[in-house]
Amino acid sequence: MRLKEKIYIGLMIAKAKLLKQSIPVIVGWALTYQCNKQCKYCLLPIKKTVELNTAEVKLLIDNFKRLGTKMLIFTGGEPFLRKDIIEIINYAKQKRMIVYVNSNGSRIRDFIGQLGLVDCLNISLEGNKQTHNAIRGTGSFEQVMESAELAKQHKIKLRFTTTLNKLNLENIDYILDSGANLQAKVKFQILTDYCLGSVEKNPLLPENHKLIKVIKQLCEYKKKGKYKNIIANPLPALKYFRSLPKLPLMACASGKITFRVTPDGFLITCGESGIAANHFRIALKNKTYEQVKQILEKIKFSKQRCSCGCADRVEASMLWNLNPGAVLNRL
Ligand SMILES: C[S@@+](CC[C@H](N)C(=O)[O-])C[C@H]1O[C@@H](n2cnc3c(N)ncnc32)[C@H](O)[C@@H]1O
Ligand code: SF4
Ligand code: SF4
Repeated sequence: MRLKEKIYIGLMIAKAKLLKQSIPVIVGWALTYQCNKQCKYCLLPIKKTVELNTAEVKLLIDNFKRLGTKMLIFTGGEPFLRKDIIEIINYAKQKRMIVYVNSNGSRIRDFIGQLGLVDCLNISLEGNKQTHNAIRGTGSFEQVMESAELAKQHKIKLRFTTTLNKLNLENIDYILDSGANLQAKVKFQILTDYCLGSVEKNPLLPENHKLIKVIKQLCEYKKKGKYKNIIANPLPALKYFRSLPKLPLMACASGKITFRVTPDGFLITCGESGIAANHFRIALKNKTYEQVKQILEKIKFSKQRCSCGCADRVEASMLWNLNPGAVLNRL
């Protein structure tokens, strides 16, 4: 991220704080729930949803631009299953947004020549070949590694996302070494208790003491040593996870400066509708900028606190709460 962009985001956060007004500065946008994988901890692909079409997506990007949005993180499902994904990315870039795209790596080969404008490609990596394929299906690891090599060749910034689970806790050094070799940082995520997109209990939940041991190891790596700059999570955010399974409650940035958008065009606080302190769901489809602005102005900042293990949200909330370590990590 360029200094100018960091300053803009900082100013927008300050504005939202001072005016106590929701500004969707950073938006995680699931463009589809369709997916070509069946990962063991995710049931999003079975969700049947009407999706916004290209024109509706573009209209929403226009509105976000006017509302002060600086960063769009396109996700899914698998966003590269949408035929218009490149058109959407390029449109957001025309509007001078920072664009990150999350992917399982299965279709990067088909699109790599058209991804030059993407600011960061986030590809999920579970561990070594055996572990990754056990979670994501045969051939998935090879797709990730090929995508990572292609990203390196095409000079596209790459980040791995690793969701810590009972099958990959022994793979941490492997993942960090892969990041170092492929010039990719690694963002570690905490698994939800249920499978994403459902209420089904997550079959890959790790034993807590084993998870904490790995988190402590990551904290040590982040403090010093060869992996310090490979781990993308800021140290305070990693330390926060040492309290699992009972995370301290916090004033969350979700619904204030970070938001999510669903494939059918609803603006929501975060993906955790069951536990979020201030959960709302606003239909954005076919709304004018003025209409959305009015709705956002009516959102009252909740004094309630909550907590979850979403690494991006913990990081954003630490920025929101002006945690010095999180702020320094962003500079
Ligand atoms: C929902 S996927 C969408 C993008 C793409 N399909 C992928 O796998 O990267 C985004 C991230 O969510 C993570 N994820 C899936 N199920 C999860 C769960 N139950 N808890 C936490 N993270 C989860 C995935 O590992 C992935 O890194
Ligand atoms: S984690 Fe990603 S790749 Fe796996 S099933 Fe969910 S959406 Fe698909
Ligand atoms: S702490 Fe988690 S559940 Fe609560 S609002 Fe933030 S992202 Fe949502």
